[in-house]
Amino acid sequence: MTACPLVASGISVRFGGVHAVRDVSLQVEPGQLVGLIGPNGAGKTSFVDAITGFVPSEGRVEIDGVDVTSARPHIRAKHGLTRTWQSVDLFNDLSVAENLAVAATEPSWTRTLRELVRNGRKTAPAVEQLMADVGIESMADLMPEALSEGQRKLVGVARALAGSPVVVCLDEPAAGLDTHESTQLGVRLKRLVDQGTAMLLIDHDMGFVFGICDHIVVLEFGVVIAEGTPADIRQDPGVIAAYLGAGSSDTSIEARS
Ligand SMILES: Nc1ncnc2c1ncn2[C@@H]1O[C@H](COP(=O)(O)OP(=O)(O)O)[C@@H](O)[C@H]1O
Ligand SMILES: [Mg+2]
Repeated sequence: MTACPLVASGISVRFGGVHAVRDVSLQVEPGQLVGLIGPNGAGKTSFVDAITGFVPSEGRVEIDGVDVTSARPHIRAKHGLTRTWQSVDLFNDLSVAENLAVAATEPSWTRTLRELVRNGRKTAPAVEQLMADVGIESMADLMPEALSEGQRKLVGVARALAGSPVVVCLDEPAAGLDTHESTQLGVRLKRLVDQGTAMLLIDHDMGFVFGICDHIVVLEFGVVIAEGTPADIRQDPGVIAAYLGAGSSDTSIEARS
C-alpha cells in the first residue's frame, strides 16, 4: 500500500497568549490537491510553519510514512516536505535560473552553492524542467528585481518543487497574479499533482481553490470548522457564516473574494 504523503495529527501552535492553531489534523493522500482556506488570521500559515518545522508546535507529522515530528526543517525537506512563503526571498545577485539551480543542487563541502552556479554552466536540465513545470521559462535570465510580486511567487513555487518532493505546501502562490495567470498556474499545479506530487494549497482566491482542489479544509480561529469536497464546502452553513457573516442572504462563498 502506498504511504500517505502527509499525515498531520493534533497540531497546535501558540505564540505567547495567542493559540493560533488548535488541535488540527489533516491528511494529504496520494494524488491529492488539498485546499486550506479560512479568513485572515485563521492560522493557515502557522499550520504550515508548524508542519514544516519552522515554529515550535504540538502534534505529530508523518511524511510518506516517516515520523518527522522532531526533525529540523531541512530534514523534513529531505524526506519530501517542502513549502513556499508568502513573501519570497531570492538571491538578488542571481538570475531566476541561477536561483533555481541553487535550490536544485546538493550542498558540497568544497564549493559554495553560489560559486557553483555562477561558474558559467549552462542551465541544468533539472532547472529547465522546474521552470517549464511552473511556466516561467521566459524569466530564466531575469534578475529578481525585475520580477513582479506574482512572478516572484512562481519562482518560489518552482523552488519548492526542486528535488521532487512528496508533498508541497503552497502559501498563497496566486497572490499577485491576474485571473488568467492564476488559471494557468492552476492547470500546471493540477498536472504536477496528477504526475505524483501531492499538494496542500492555501489561497484567498476562492475561484482558484475551488476550481482545482480535490478536498478542502476550512480553518477559523485556529480550528477546523469544515472539510470535504468543494461541493460540500460551498454548501456548509458554518463556512458560509465564517466567510459572509451569519444572516447574509448571499450563499455563494466565491462572492467574497
Ligand atoms: N510570529 C508570530 N508571533 C505572534 N503571533 C503570530 C505570529 N504569527 C502569527 N501570529 C498570529 O497567529 C494567528 C494566525 O496567523 P496566521 O497563521 O498568519 O494566519 P493566516 O495565515 O490564516 O492568515 C494570528 O492571530 C496572528 O496574529
Ligand atoms: Mg497566511
